[in-house]
Amino acid sequence: LRRPIVTVTYAQSLNGSLAAAPGRPLALSGPQSLAFTHQLRAAHAAILVGVNTVLSDDPQLTVRLGGATAAGPNPQPIVLDSRLRCPLQARLLCHPTHALWLATTDAAPAERQAALEAAGARVIRLPADAQGRVALPALLDWLGAQGLASLMVEGGAQTITAFLAQHLTDRLIVTLAPRLIGGLNAIAAPLDLTLHDVRCRMLGEDVIVEAELNRPTPTADDGRQMVGGLPSAV
Ligand SMILES: NC(=O)c1ccc[n+]([C@@H]2O[C@H](COP(=O)([O-])OP(=O)(O)OC[C@H]3O[C@@H](n4cnc5c(N)ncnc54)[C@H](OP(=O)(O)O)[C@@H]3O)[C@@H](O)[C@H]2O)c1
Repeated sequence: LRRPIVTVTYAQSLNGSLAAAPGRPLALSGPQSLAFTHQLRAAHAAILVGVNTVLSDDPQLTVRLGGATAAGPNPQPIVLDSRLRCPLQARLLCHPTHALWLATTDAAPAERQAALEAAGARVIRLPADAQGRVALPALLDWLGAQGLASLMVEGGAQTITAFLAQHLTDRLIVTLAPRLIGGLNAIAAPLDLTLHDVRCRMLGEDVIVEAELNRPTPTADDGRQMVGGLPSAV
């Protein structure tokens, strides 16, 4: 079965910071680019963050902004969490439409799985990579087998870097906020990728940069499609 199309998207300062420091959330997007991010969420079947983002930002990952055009269904929320560190009080466990999927490994304690399942999560045990983290190719295969056609990866730095470094990304959409912040770099490891089909536009005071990466381009008949396509202005 086909793996989902992967869109990596995040907001950064002009000099490439996601936050002032790990674990310290920072609102970077202006109102228009924030609404655009919610439209992007509505265009994807699933949305994924790393567990550090849950621990620091406690995100909801729902579609709440963006006007009538963003009135799509919420994407399925997924957290990369090899040891099941997701807090039982996480807002994602009270998602209005979906049970949270926690992608984990055999290193996660069974008691922790039971507690998180009792709190409403679905725990998916997958192979680990060489660092003991969730193996991303196995996750994408599993998501494809569930029939999910598109995945939006929203952060944080380690997660973004992993999807880029392993060449598992089809499209990158970055919001550049007019800020200069010395802090947590979006790219957390040495990386050298060339993007193509680059498009740029302003949304309020932010610049949105969209580009493609070298993975096979999806076609209409290969089963890898967005939910209703990306927001048309992109
Ligand atoms: N500006 C933005 O758009 C934006 C968006 C999101 C987050 N953020 C910021 O990003 C920061 C968090 O970023 P972060 O880099 O510390 O962490 P992260 O990417 O949110 O989470 C990383 C953690 O995910 C788990 N994981 C499991 N499998 C993985 C895999 N294959 N690849 C990567 N991670 C895997 C690991 O923990 P285990 O080993 O325990 O599994 C890893 O430490 C926060 O400060 C947050 O505010 C900013």
